[in-house]
Amino acid sequence: MDAFAKVGIGTPLPRVDGVDKVTGRARYAAEYALPDLLYGVAVPSRIAKGRITGIDDALARQVPGVVEVLTHENRPSEAWFNRSWKDELDIPGEPFKALHDEKILFAGQPVALVLAETFEAARYASTLVQVSYEEEAHNVDFQASLAEKFEPSKKRSSFQPPKNRGDAGAAFTRSEVKVDAEYHLATEHHNPMEMHATTVEWHGEGKITVYDKTQGSQGVQSFLASAFGFSKSDVRVVNAYVGGAFGSGLRPQWQVQVATLAAKHMKRSVRVVMTRQQMFTHAHRPECTMSIRLGADSSGKLNAVITDATTSTSRFEDNMEDIVIWGMMNYASPNAMGTYAIAPRDTYTSADMRAPGAATGMTLFEIAMDELAYAARVDPLELRMINYSEVDAMNGTPFTSKALREAYREGAARFGWERRSPEPRSMKEGRELIGWGMATGMWDAMFSKTSASAKLSANGHLEVACATSDIGTGTYTVMALVAADTLGLPPEQITARLGDSSLPTSPVEGGSWAAASSGAAVQLACQSVAKKLLKAADKVEGRPLGGASLDEVVFADGRITLKSDAGKSVGVIEAMRAAELAVIEEEETASSGISGLVSMARKSRNTHSAIFCEVRVDEELGQVRVTRIVNAVAAGRIINPKTARSQILGGVVMGIGMALHEETFADKKLGRWMNHNLAEYHVPAHADVEAIDVIFVDEHDPEVTPLGVKGVGEIGIVGTAAAVANAIYHATGKRIRSLPITIDRLME
Ligand code: MOS
Repeated sequence: MDAFAKVGIGTPLPRVDGVDKVTGRARYAAEYALPDLLYGVAVPSRIAKGRITGIDDALARQVPGVVEVLTHENRPSEAWFNRSWKDELDIPGEPFKALHDEKILFAGQPVALVLAETFEAARYASTLVQVSYEEEAHNVDFQASLAEKFEPSKKRSSFQPPKNRGDAGAAFTRSEVKVDAEYHLATEHHNPMEMHATTVEWHGEGKITVYDKTQGSQGVQSFLASAFGFSKSDVRVVNAYVGGAFGSGLRPQWQVQVATLAAKHMKRSVRVVMTRQQMFTHAHRPECTMSIRLGADSSGKLNAVITDATTSTSRFEDNMEDIVIWGMMNYASPNAMGTYAIAPRDTYTSADMRAPGAATGMTLFEIAMDELAYAARVDPLELRMINYSEVDAMNGTPFTSKALREAYREGAARFGWERRSPEPRSMKEGRELIGWGMATGMWDAMFSKTSASAKLSANGHLEVACATSDIGTGTYTVMALVAADTLGLPPEQITARLGDSSLPTSPVEGGSWAAASSGAAVQLACQSVAKKLLKAADKVEGRPLGGASLDEVVFADGRITLKSDAGKSVGVIEAMRAAELAVIEEEETASSGISGLVSMARKSRNTHSAIFCEVRVDEELGQVRVTRIVNAVAAGRIINPKTARSQILGGVVMGIGMALHEETFADKKLGRWMNHNLAEYHVPAHADVEAIDVIFVDEHDPEVTPLGVKGVGEIGIVGTAAAVANAIYHATGKRIRSLPITIDRLME
């Protein structure tokens, strides 16, 4: 095999969709030009809770170009029962139904949609709609909401309740070294570059094509059909390009609801684009408070882990996350317990945001671990080694693989960790204090049943297709690489298609499962094509391959070649011609039932990482610079080192945001998010991002998924903010337990 150099799994291939993106050929949801298009602009509720008592749209209707003002009073019919509004990610509670009735559940809720021939007319007229309300007392303050916290009785399907072991309370009491503190993470909004947008194309007779910013075309298709009474075959959803989402597009957001409702009402094509401010009226990462108690012996060996966490949800749905399990799984403490609750407030429901649960829970836990290292006077990295667990310590199951030890070792070596001076405030250069901190990351390695097709044409062109999404993660490129690898064709001869509900079945893209899942499906489909192609090759005159079986040949350089004799080969086009085939087309489904994979119950599947961080702190200004981060990741097989590295870079940058910048403030009086724009909601800019070094450690894992792939979309953010916070402590001797560590908190 090695004799054949080929582009395939492991090749750092540039994005196959890169040129389309930088030249503007790639079209996003709001960029489909349609004849006779109507523009919809939503009128936001100014109150957070209560009900609408009247809507006066007379002035708005006088604006030239305005054709309709859609509200709960004149909307077309839609499903009545909540179960018809359930999307793919089932959350207990009542799903939000836009323009459904007079109830106000959160500030900024769309209460009317102004439809006009131009965007400008719709936008202006939307400011003229007069809405009167009967206001009720609201609460959007997380601290105040804790008085109403509860342990949810009905769980989300993805939720893993903590499993306690031993007697953590008693063990903590008798521990020699203790940490006992409260940690906090602010509310964050996803803020992808592309705002949520939908263009509905009305074809007549109730048929629609919906260009939507979503992470799952088929999920939105089912949702729209069920909620608005379309037959599923009359709804096609396209999300060929998505400008980032980070989880905000996992569930259908309100723009797709109101746009579809309007198209149905007007029998015309409609576009609705959220403004940046409206991006703060839906999904956000829940605010979290977490109490952590760690007990250890004098050497730092953990004896007790006790974690209690509460995260925020809305008044109408119970969003829950796995916050407390990560420390319980990752460290070998004989005693551990966790409790978890959610607290409702009058906002939209919180949602999954890049590594939901772990990004919060593991990060806060790793700050506590750093505190334990100082309390026990043990090097922070040494402390992780002392408490290393070969197995999933919470579930008592082995991992399919866990190369975390290697990640610690390689990351520390690259960073130069052994040159660290242990005392806080002991490293300095000029007026800047220097701090070195580290943390561990952990995320799930998931796999979802996914189908794909592969179609080989007589000219040697291959098209692979799957309904999955590429939200910037590199799925197009991953699909092309897996196909190139399996059939030995150059990527220039391969087209990957995705982001269309009419393609082979795929779940919503998320949880870092897309590369492993769609990759496996593409491989299976290409293998089926390979079988047929080999049969076709047998028709070539002289039978150069002599009837060889699949494992006796190699697919490379557009040819099928005998392993035993590299001089004997048949070209792909030659084989197609010999068999007089116009196309070979196959569709296959990759499911977790594939042989070689072990069941979830017997083994845990996770990615791991070790993050090392250097900060420089100007104490007089309270300014923190993250000057260096090394993130060493153990994530199984890496399909494309280039796009995989890019995923970790993005995760690290988001981790820097979590550590230093990102925080949405609630205006308790008005019940709104205060800093609902990118001027006041800070994400890291170029000046905030310096050297980031990504290492993928070797991790061979044939059990975890069919390709041995674990996925890298989320692991990069997990623990990164802890490494920054811990470096800040090392630099300054100040322990800040509430993220983000903004200048005011540091100078307090
Ligand atoms: Mo991710 S939060 O599963 O998009």
